[in-house]
Amino acid sequence: MKLVFVGSGYVGLVSGVMLSYLGHEVVCMDSDESRINALKNHKLPIYEPDLEKYFRESIHEEYLSFATNYKALKFTPEAIFITVGTPSLPNGEANLQYVFDATMEAAANTSSNTIIVIKSTVPPGTGENLQKQLREKGYKHDIISNPEFLREGCAIKDFMQPDRIVVGVSNKKSTDLMKIIYERFIQQERPFVFTSITSAELTKYASNAFLATKIAFINEMANLCEKTGGDVDIVAKAMGLDPRIGSAFLQTGPGFGGSCFPKDIMALEHLASKYDMPCYVLSSVIKSNKNRSRDIVAKIKLALGDLRDKMIAILGLSFKAGTDDVRDSPAIEIIKLLGEEGAYLCAYDPAGMKNASSILTINMATSYKTAARNSDAIVILTEWPEFKNMDYNILAQEMREKVIFDYRNILDREEAAKAGFTVYQLGKR
Ligand code: UGA
Repeated sequence: MKLVFVGSGYVGLVSGVMLSYLGHEVVCMDSDESRINALKNHKLPIYEPDLEKYFRESIHEEYLSFATNYKALKFTPEAIFITVGTPSLPNGEANLQYVFDATMEAAANTSSNTIIVIKSTVPPGTGENLQKQLREKGYKHDIISNPEFLREGCAIKDFMQPDRIVVGVSNKKSTDLMKIIYERFIQQERPFVFTSITSAELTKYASNAFLATKIAFINEMANLCEKTGGDVDIVAKAMGLDPRIGSAFLQTGPGFGGSCFPKDIMALEHLASKYDMPCYVLSSVIKSNKNRSRDIVAKIKLALGDLRDKMIAILGLSFKAGTDDVRDSPAIEIIKLLGEEGAYLCAYDPAGMKNASSILTINMATSYKTAARNSDAIVILTEWPEFKNMDYNILAQEMREKVIFDYRNILDREEAAKAGFTVYQLGKR
């Protein structure tokens, strides 16, 4: 199949590269000329483990190419995937202007046989609305909704071994086309859900909102454990053994972040209020996660007292391990709050420092060891593997006080205690 991806950001690139790897002829398009030039020079603008390997292979096989506009296309695509951003407006609503513009441009530049697949995360009703607007402008193209469920840091695995592929369609022609595009996964008997466009759109929002709810819930249980003397890791493990609950997304931490959960859950809440349909659970999850950074700083203050003139080493800036993405990372908010309390901060992250330095003005170190130099405490905010295996003897020499706030619960407290460290973790005393 001949496919075009409009929007060569995270979703467009991962999906485009992987579909070309599966044998489709793919053009990744983006209006950002410098991005397209970098891609043409075989430089990936995003960090995603293993993507580089497939990217190079697809370019080498000539299945993958790049363009800034439709004029550069050497073929008529069977499908155009819209993978542009849907950032939040100040009121929380998803900004659909880029999706709208990209859809209209796709229709204007192709014949009605080309199907337009919306992969950007859009509120339920958007696809139907786009379809209506296309018809009003005289275009006969069909719209499909095909939300993505890729996680940053393990997107290749998620793509190649999908739990499910959700496709919202309005006719058989669209269903058949999507079956050809995803033939590999049909052969593998991966679960497919063919449904209406609106149900597909809502499935994406509901999935992210539900996962965010699990995280906010376990974080509140962690707070309760600290008060009552329970151990949240044990509670989460025991809860997760019930298949009705499941063990995933019950890891306590400094709150959920990234470019998806915070944005999507706000957009869903906005949508609910538009329909005058209060979603109490959703509103509470947003509130709970917003309070999380203050919670975390309060815990640090409780242990260290006045933070003025305290030297604190921050380990971890990205919103989770395995990515350089710091968008809506809890670490950023926590750093700002610690700064307001008068603490001196030095941060280290194996991948996220470049992105963080455009939004933060704190010192950055070249390793966890140099970040910890002369510090009164370390605060771990991202679960990078290298923080799990820190050399306590070296840290003991570098630090002023042997205190670690392990706010991803990744350390072996007993081992750290042997080296004289006091380790505070979430959801346990
Ligand atoms: C999320 C979803 O997991 C994907 O299925 C979805 O495709 C994607 O959003 C999207 O909408 O594009 P992602 O944002 O990459 O993926 O990250 P997650 O792994 O879901 O983590 C989100 C946040 O929750 C991170 O800050 C992470 O540290 C936090 N988290 C996750 C926890 O605090 N505890 C957990 O148990 C799991």
